[in-house]
Amino acid sequence: MALHMNQIQNTYKVSSLTKVNATYFRLSFDAPALAKAVRPGQFIHIKVSEGFEPFFRRPFSVYRAKDGKVEIFFEPVGKGSRLLTSKKKGDSLDVLGPLGVPFAMPGKDVKQVVFVGGGIGVAPFMLFSDMLKKHAAEKVLLYGGRTRAHTFPMNEFKKNGVKVFTATDDGSVGVKGRVSELFNKVVLLPSTMIYTCGPRPMMAAVQTFVKEHGLVGQASCEEVMACGLGACLGCSIMTTKGYRTVCHDGPVFDLKELVFT
Ligand SMILES: Cc1cc2nc3c(=O)[nH]c(=O)nc-3n(C[C@H](O)[C@H](O)[C@H](O)COP(=O)(O)OP(=O)(O)OC[C@H]3O[C@@H](n4cnc5c(N)ncnc54)[C@H](O)[C@@H]3O)c2cc1C
Ligand code: FES
Repeated sequence: MALHMNQIQNTYKVSSLTKVNATYFRLSFDAPALAKAVRPGQFIHIKVSEGFEPFFRRPFSVYRAKDGKVEIFFEPVGKGSRLLTSKKKGDSLDVLGPLGVPFAMPGKDVKQVVFVGGGIGVAPFMLFSDMLKKHAAEKVLLYGGRTRAHTFPMNEFKKNGVKVFTATDDGSVGVKGRVSELFNKVVLLPSTMIYTCGPRPMMAAVQTFVKEHGLVGQASCEEVMACGLGACLGCSIMTTKGYRTVCHDGPVFDLKELVFT
């Protein structure tokens, strides 16, 4: 499949790899054109090794894009993501992107933006909050993690003027319980926009909340991917409009269109 004009495949130089805590890493690389082009919710498809194993690229949200660098925030869960933890400054990184449909930016009439993130699903909201710094809307992040090790250092969000509320399964940070325990922290406005990314049960709860309150919401979905370009149909999910590919028709969808079974 031919690449679109704004999709760039290139080899970049790793500028840093940082172990954030027991669970998360961040990796940044020099990519000025990509940093300029990428929009919140889009992802990059990384060839994690120089050989053929693993064969397919791995998709990651862009966490930050500034000063000519692109950064991802990731959790090593398997072969591919574990290989990324051995990258060193100066190593080459083969990246395809930006890919997929980004979150719709809120219009000027939107007075409140609520991000609902579960675990690593919070990653695209950092880039989003960077880009909304000058937007007058109140910005709120409702964030759910399993334990303390699954919560981010929230200071970066706070520096962007985002109010942060956290819930953990074991109560080690914030409220004990699911992220839905935090819905009552927000005083909703008629123009509130909800954006969510995380495990499917969490996004299903957000969908119910959005429907009950007559709000508008978008969700960024995750699926295991191969081509990343809409060609193999391997990442298809069921929506109210039939099967759609997460990589090409998404990853961002209207929350009301998603079918959670
Ligand atoms: C659009 C998009 C954005 C993403 N952004 C991030 C991000 O910012 N940070 C981050 O850490 N991860 C992110 N992911 C998930 C990341 O792509 C997977 O963790 C990674 O591909 C796993 O590859 P692996 O080789 O390490 O694991 P594998 O060995 O391929 O798989 C290990 C286990 O993880 C499961 N798995 C693999 N991929 C996924 C997936 N996409 N969703 C759910 N389960 C999966 C497998 O079924 C298996 O059980 C994103 C995924 C998508 C689709
Ligand atoms: S990964 Fe091939 S169509 Fe989405």
